[in-house]
Amino acid sequence: MLPPFRNEPHTDFTNPAHAAAFRAALQTVRATLGQTYPMHIGGQAVHTEQHFPTLNPSNPSERLAHFAQGDASHADQAIEAARCAFKTWQYTPVQERAGYLLRAAAEMRRRKHEFSAAMVLEVGKSWSEADADTAEAIDFLEYYARLAVEIADSSAKLTPFEGEHLTLTYIPLGVGAVIPPWNFPCAITCGMASAALVTGNTVVLKPAEQSPLIAWMLCELFWDNGLPAGVLNLVTGPGHIVGARMVEHPQTRFIAFTGSRPVGVGIYAKAGTLVPGQTWLKRTIAELGGKDAVVVDDSADLEAAARGIVASAFGFQGQKCSAGSRAVIVESVYEWVAQRVVELTRQLTVGNPEHDPTTYNGPVVDATAHRKILSYIDIGKTEGVLLAGGHAIETPSGGYFIAPTVFGEVDSRARIAQEEIFGPVLALIKARDFDHALHIANDTDYGLTGAVYARDQHKLERAKREFHVGNLYLNRKSTGAMVGAHPFGGFNMSGTDSKAGGPDYLYHFTQAKATAERL
Ligand code: NAI
Ligand code: MG
Repeated sequence: MLPPFRNEPHTDFTNPAHAAAFRAALQTVRATLGQTYPMHIGGQAVHTEQHFPTLNPSNPSERLAHFAQGDASHADQAIEAARCAFKTWQYTPVQERAGYLLRAAAEMRRRKHEFSAAMVLEVGKSWSEADADTAEAIDFLEYYARLAVEIADSSAKLTPFEGEHLTLTYIPLGVGAVIPPWNFPCAITCGMASAALVTGNTVVLKPAEQSPLIAWMLCELFWDNGLPAGVLNLVTGPGHIVGARMVEHPQTRFIAFTGSRPVGVGIYAKAGTLVPGQTWLKRTIAELGGKDAVVVDDSADLEAAARGIVASAFGFQGQKCSAGSRAVIVESVYEWVAQRVVELTRQLTVGNPEHDPTTYNGPVVDATAHRKILSYIDIGKTEGVLLAGGHAIETPSGGYFIAPTVFGEVDSRARIAQEEIFGPVLALIKARDFDHALHIANDTDYGLTGAVYARDQHKLERAKREFHVGNLYLNRKSTGAMVGAHPFGGFNMSGTDSKAGGPDYLYHFTQAKATAERL
């Protein structure tokens, strides 16, 4: 019997011993940099002539590693390897499959700071953000291991039928294409891949181009622990080539995708198109973007609201699907809250997070993101009043730093109030009253997270009913969902609401087989 699931605690870096351990882990990871990594297909290393680098966004001339530049043929090979491995993996007892997750969790816990340090270097997370990402990955492993065992046989839930022995078993689907984003490169990659594996599917994983190193470290936990060849295959290369082929391959049974709306919509459509040789309807689990709002009522604790707005908007440079990129504030308290948000935003420190655990904001992930965010800041200058930030921060290293930016008096239909910017840009929107604020909050194509600050219980009850988001937070920030406590996923264009880290997540990776045996 396993002990009950508990969330992995976050590390307190004000404790000098923890800070020293983290610095040591940064050195450990630094000592491994500069290598060239192959793909991993059917238990074999697969090399290519061409490679692509993974960079340190704080210092883009620093190439952390080089990865094999895969193409469609590698996707085909990996799917074939996964198809062969599925023949036996699907019948592996669930306890044994769960064991791989639990051993990976134990090893990740032992080397926790190494995983976090790799994220500081590869995607520019602050120490605390990286630590939370690793903790969430451990949580997914522990949580899904328990859940898989629990749901494997659900026969007890059936109504007895005279003269028959009944079973209801959740069996795996087959080969899964697992396609994560770079922004939670450990947690989301680990969550989607481990959910697929523990339910008896085999996986072809293609990490985001910006974060293959952390994906490699994660996969090694499984490969080094004797996971049978072909059960977890890693292919690397451009999403629109390798990922696209994985999605359209006739032997792919399901796709687990987390990423941007345009890519997700394209995948959803492609997965719905039958190709020659395909004998099933592919299942698509797609978790997409957000334009999440933090609503502030005049009954709110305004200081808490201002702090919540800033934390929601700027944690990991606003590069979270749950980021509160809109603050919708009731008119009578707008001026006070706006001013306090600006003060708090100006206090945020920006720099290379490697050197200092108190650095709040690192760089944005790459040159493309840097350009895109700055172009939205230009748009914002025509759509609202610039109150803080509004520019790149130049450093000798050429890191992709952007000052946390606040625009006031933004119209709720403005582009910076409607489009996902995925960077440190916050739009403040004035509402006439709470009704109007809720209307504005819902007036978006998305529906991922939302927060409401109010003391008036009636208004909180109205938000519970009417604020149409997958994750609603009352009197707290819009980010920081914990596995098991806050099952995570959104409505409308935020995706298929598969609720990662929740009690029904694993069902998406299974099909239910009902058997009745006449006695
Ligand atoms: P992205 O959509 O650019 O890439 C995601 C993945 O898709 C990458 O692995 C990429 O290589 C791959 N890909 C790209 N084109 C493809 C194609 N044609 N076919 C198959 N695969 C393809 O997203 P990005 O920039 O990596 O991540 C940021 C986005 O992810 C944001 O929109 C964010 O809101 C969203 N996100 C959503 C979450 C949720 O739970 N709803 C959680 C975290 C991020
Ligand atoms: Mg990188």
